[in-house]
Amino acid sequence: MSSHILITGGAGFIGSHTADALIAAGHSVRVLDSLHPQVHGPSGEFPAYLHPAVERIRGDICDQDALRAALDGVDVVYHMAAETGVGQSQYEVARYFQTNVTGTAALWEAILSTGTHIRRVILSSSRAVYGEGAYHCRAHGTVYPSGRSLDALSQHDWSMKCPQCGQPAESLPTGEDAPLVAGSVYAQTKLFQEEICRLMSATHGLPLVILRYFNVYGPRQALTNPYTGVIATFCTRLLNGKSIAVYEEGVPQRDFVHVRDVVQANLRALASDLDAGHAPVFNVGTGQTLSLATIAETVCEAAGHPGAFERTTRHRIGDILSCTADLSASRTALGYAPSVSFADGMIELVEWLKGQRQPEDRSEQVAAELAAKGLMLGADSPGRPDTRQN
Ligand SMILES: NC(=O)c1ccc[n+]([C@@H]2O[C@H](COP(=O)([O-])OP(=O)(O)OC[C@H]3O[C@@H](n4cnc5c(N)ncnc54)[C@H](O)[C@@H]3O)[C@@H](O)[C@H]2O)c1
Ligand SMILES: [Zn+2]
Repeated sequence: MSSHILITGGAGFIGSHTADALIAAGHSVRVLDSLHPQVHGPSGEFPAYLHPAVERIRGDICDQDALRAALDGVDVVYHMAAETGVGQSQYEVARYFQTNVTGTAALWEAILSTGTHIRRVILSSSRAVYGEGAYHCRAHGTVYPSGRSLDALSQHDWSMKCPQCGQPAESLPTGEDAPLVAGSVYAQTKLFQEEICRLMSATHGLPLVILRYFNVYGPRQALTNPYTGVIATFCTRLLNGKSIAVYEEGVPQRDFVHVRDVVQANLRALASDLDAGHAPVFNVGTGQTLSLATIAETVCEAAGHPGAFERTTRHRIGDILSCTADLSASRTALGYAPSVSFADGMIELVEWLKGQRQPEDRSEQVAAELAAKGLMLGADSPGRPDTRQN
């Protein structure tokens, strides 16, 4: 069955790939996007990569008139419009709440006031809502630590400790039933988005699917936005002839999922026959973790600059140690199966990057901003990482 689909934030990285796949599957797609200059640059134009069949509305997610126009005749909404920088959210608090939280509330108000017949809302949430996620302690089994102490971090002890006995704990894949603890303002806004959506869905009987993406990478990720995406930052530095500085000596681990796999999950969330009685939540990752050092190494190799990274003892306050997706539920109920390996995905990303206009590297400016706000440990001279040669 073909649907009329609205993607909020659909001019962005994940939204535009999702639009391509939906159009290929025979649906019609409309996008509501403010064309945030931090993501799209100053031109105010829709990006050239956006599929020509996409109907475009430039407008803010908090603007009721824009929302009403965007919802007209629509039967499915993918809600992706958001501010996405974890570090930046720690000081631009009101802006993050405005777009992510008030924007989600505004979307629901418009859905309800227009009386349109929406049959499903699909929310792009984030693994950020898990905070540190699940760990294993030899004495206490599965535990959910709230974080690491600043004292330990300033002594370059990057390990996680069991909250009950203080002994080192090992990261485990995190399932959807893990406690939700926001460790940054960004995470808090994603948690609020989920809560608003859950409440509205239950109150008004409107089916909802929540997808918690892990770290997404791939072509079209914003290179002009220096506040998001460690991979974009790494690539931009390499393309500017600079080496990569990895934080916490490269120890932290991430589950990087290719945007094609995220699109697969997005389409499955539309098609699958899910129970409308309760809002299902699914992790969208690969289930594999890679250390930041391995990620940096792979990026350097794919970019033809093997070894061009250095391990630093910087720590960005709010960053977690490790998080991997437990995919049991998304495999079973959604039929989701990630298919792109990190090495292959990186080769493809670098090929795409080579065809892009040389992005300006602003990573040192961003690090200096965080340091000036007391949000970076180990950065006594901003812009000049406390380095240890790899
Ligand atoms: N990229 C990731 O690793 C990742 C991980 C977890 C969750 N997510 C979530 O996925 C969604 C899409 O992220 P993305 O990586 O494609 O980011 P993106 O920045 O490429 O896309 C977000 C889009 O939202 C638009 N936007 C921002 N503020 C807006 C506003 N006030 N009104 C209307 N539009 C606005 C931007 O212009 C942009 O086109 C977000 O909700 C994000 O929180 C992303
Ligand atoms: Zn313990």
